[in-house]
Amino acid sequence: MERTKERWGTRIGLVLAMAGNAVGLGNFLRFPAQAVQNGGGAFIIPYLVSFVLMGLPLLWIEWAIGRHGGKYGHHSAPGMMDKLGHSRWLKYAGVFGIFTNLTIAAYYTYLESWTLGYVWYSLTGVFHNMSAHEVRDFFFWYVGAEGNPIINVSPHALFFFILTFTLNVWILSRGLSKGIETASKIGMPLLFIFGVFLAVRALTLNAGELNAINDALVGLNFLWNPKFESLADPKVWLAAAGQIFFTLSVGMGSIHCYAAYLRENEDIALNATTAGFTNEFVEVVLGGSIIIPIGVAYLGLDEVQRIVGLSMGFQTMPTLFQNWGPILAAVAGMAWFGLLFFAGITSSLAMGQPVVAFFHDEFHLDRKHAVRVYGVLLFILALPTILFFSHGAFGEYDDWSGTFSLVLFALIESIAFSWIFGIDRGWEEIQRGAELKIPIFFKFVMKYVTPLFLLGVFSGSLIAPKEGDWIAAFSQLFSGKGWPLDPNSILGKIFRVGVTDTRYFIDGEPTSIFIVDMTRLLLLVTFIGIACAVAYAWRHRKVQAEKGRTP
Ligand code: TRP
Repeated sequence: MERTKERWGTRIGLVLAMAGNAVGLGNFLRFPAQAVQNGGGAFIIPYLVSFVLMGLPLLWIEWAIGRHGGKYGHHSAPGMMDKLGHSRWLKYAGVFGIFTNLTIAAYYTYLESWTLGYVWYSLTGVFHNMSAHEVRDFFFWYVGAEGNPIINVSPHALFFFILTFTLNVWILSRGLSKGIETASKIGMPLLFIFGVFLAVRALTLNAGELNAINDALVGLNFLWNPKFESLADPKVWLAAAGQIFFTLSVGMGSIHCYAAYLRENEDIALNATTAGFTNEFVEVVLGGSIIIPIGVAYLGLDEVQRIVGLSMGFQTMPTLFQNWGPILAAVAGMAWFGLLFFAGITSSLAMGQPVVAFFHDEFHLDRKHAVRVYGVLLFILALPTILFFSHGAFGEYDDWSGTFSLVLFALIESIAFSWIFGIDRGWEEIQRGAELKIPIFFKFVMKYVTPLFLLGVFSGSLIAPKEGDWIAAFSQLFSGKGWPLDPNSILGKIFRVGVTDTRYFIDGEPTSIFIVDMTRLLLLVTFIGIACAVAYAWRHRKVQAEKGRTP
């Protein structure tokens, strides 16, 4: 068996790849939407506290688990978790680290392909003479969100998906240094340039010029004026912690994987901190200075609060750019969607690599074959999110894989690291070879605060009350009328709170409930399938080891 171990080429390549892993669509689409929906300045304090008490410690933990696992030739979560202690279940906790990467990559690659499509449309002037209404309808046509046929998607969306998919698989097949590292070295600087261009344009918008009704400052003030009363609102905390998770890419096994290609004494503390702060800079400074100031300048704060969401970047931004004249509109459209594309692809590659590594390390497939297996799985899992987008398949992936599983895995790994591997060994592992001394205070944070924080976030999302109103919920509970679950809480989803019509078929046509349940079933089967693969690989290894011992 050939074992030429892959490594990162350069330190700058490593940091760019890790930053590219974290910097994604979440920084530019999800962060502004979350911040606006949770009261702007009210969101920022819980967000920063979550970064320090949960985000940073998890980054260090994941880098440490990764580098430690890499020493034993494991570059994906099952093998790494296995090396943290003696219990047999640890490797099954690592199943999450394959499952989330694979299933999130499935819907994320689709989202990423929209941005490629929109670069094309911007450059070819498709939005040039469209009204705001037509731009919005165009989006609905593109993703197939309107109308009732059960399979509903435009051929364009399929085309751009296949293009994006092929590009991802091709880059992965070139290997770590020639593929991922090169892509990050090209994508990250371009992303940065596009971002700065748009942010400068946004921040120099004045009321009265080019149809703008507000100064850019109105949007910024809304974001940056802290509101302290929100500190007591669990709903804002849950949203803030959720955003920290998503944006840092923690709880997924992807950071572990990249860290596993480090050398034994290569710096973790400084590199992890640099990558984490780069992500925060891009999110808070660039992500916060594009969509909100531009939106508020042209539409006003109330309208932005009404329409904000993941798809505002596609439904509304092309229209707003038209205020800048056809040429600048095309350039701005290319910069905006191009930036999103680079942000997206450096992240989707980071989701692919752990899965590829899993087949390579544990099933001894060579890279080409491992990538091929990944490609087939990715394609199959992406199909439902594309074809049944309007019936909620995409949303189910985002909820179960992109939100629920992340928190659960992070909770398990933080306990495994601090309590099973042991915080003393863990601390030493993080500090070994490090140029940065992490304040000792974080040792305490990692041992107690982070796991408790995660437990809080996990329980919170399990039982989130109706409309996020915890005060009303508690008073209802104490007056003996039970706990009002929100339909979007985990338990609310499982018990179908608020769903009155549970029929799978109406007039022979499958319903959205059917699609949703089938999607959940598919995700469950995927999870079980990976667990079986882990069981098989380890049984096989044991047999091999025993054969080795008896000559
Ligand atoms: N951090 C990415 C973003 O902001 C999304 C993401 C979450 C991710 N988990 C990941 C990317 C794991 C790569 C690997 O959009």
